[in-house]
Amino acid sequence: MWKDIEAAPADSIFGLTEAFRKETNPRKVNLGVGVYKDDQGRTPVLQCVKAAEKLLLEKEESKSYLPISGDPLYSQCVQRLIFGNDSEVIKSDRAATIHAPGGTGALRIGAQLLNKFNANGTVWVSTPTWANHMGIFSDAGFAISQYPYYNKESKGLDFEDFEQCLLAVPEGDLVLFHACCHNPSGVDLGEQQWRRVAEIAEEKKWIPFLDFAYQGFSKSLELDRRAVELMAEKEIDFLVASSFSKNFGLYNERTGALTIVAPSAREAEVAMSHLKKTVRVIYSNPPAHGGLTVATVLSDDSLYKQWVGELEEMRNRIIGMRTALVDGLSARDIDTDFSFIKDQSGMFSFSGLNDDTISWLRNNKGIYIVGGGRINVAGLTSKNIDYVCDSIAEAFKTA
Ligand code: LMR
Repeated sequence: MWKDIEAAPADSIFGLTEAFRKETNPRKVNLGVGVYKDDQGRTPVLQCVKAAEKLLLEKEESKSYLPISGDPLYSQCVQRLIFGNDSEVIKSDRAATIHAPGGTGALRIGAQLLNKFNANGTVWVSTPTWANHMGIFSDAGFAISQYPYYNKESKGLDFEDFEQCLLAVPEGDLVLFHACCHNPSGVDLGEQQWRRVAEIAEEKKWIPFLDFAYQGFSKSLELDRRAVELMAEKEIDFLVASSFSKNFGLYNERTGALTIVAPSAREAEVAMSHLKKTVRVIYSNPPAHGGLTVATVLSDDSLYKQWVGELEEMRNRIIGMRTALVDGLSARDIDTDFSFIKDQSGMFSFSGLNDDTISWLRNNKGIYIVGGGRINVAGLTSKNIDYVCDSIAEAFKTA
């Protein structure tokens, strides 16, 4: 069956991790895949997760199926986290949430479901966007269009062009946004800009789909959800894909959620019925462990506080490494200003390094960076920062 078929190219992010594992340079550094590392270069299990797992192990009596939509307490907890406890959306039952296998699973289930009712639909994605967005939506049957976002010259947001493009998006199309910590650029919209996006969505009747994979990694759990809150203030249809890979460190538990918000409770109920049909034929119902762990932490005051503290520690370490990178580069004799990296938020930084420099760093120094120049700032540690800065300085001199 496969003899005349060409092999597919390796994934631009996970393929890099595979190559990194085989790298023999003893000083190698992986700045590719978006996985948090502590200053010792480890990806630890959070203490609040360990505590919740202990509780779960003690009280678990059965491994029978969960409902198609997952554990109901998990869905409630997700809604409180993404909308805020007192949100009108929750009070008026305008949201339907399922446990999806990771943020990717949430995006894919949402895309699959929407494609049922909009077979030749188009999804608009930012230029640039996370490499997997295109694949997820095109495999579900969507045509892909791009809206202007990152301006390479200013190293910031191209707001005017972005706004003009959104004003021209046809009614019924999907528009995919990064709710915070834009991946790959680290450049986010401000409060007024989100307000304007929500206004345009309402006026033009296209459907916002918020990819919310990094809640708590920019400023705080509350400030990072402003985009979701502002959409919720409008009585419009929109979707949110959440992920607990990063903020709970539950990468391999595939713990995400898809939330559909509708203008009324009845419409949300209809959405849930179709969501369940979509899930049933793909994976039937979700795995339990990650969702139960998150629900245990979020529904317990002391575990919740512990989680907020651990999340803050991760966020602050990343912010510290951003500063160390900028200071380290400016202390070396390089003719480029990298201070813009301090203004970016989240796990990633669009470094401005070009593909030649990226290849040079990989081949000569064992430093792995995703094509396009995205650096996982969380991969920097006090042990490797000097090596990375020296190597970048050397790459600039060699070029
Ligand atoms: C990333 O962007 O590196 C992460 O979100 C991991 C992934 O699934 O690509």
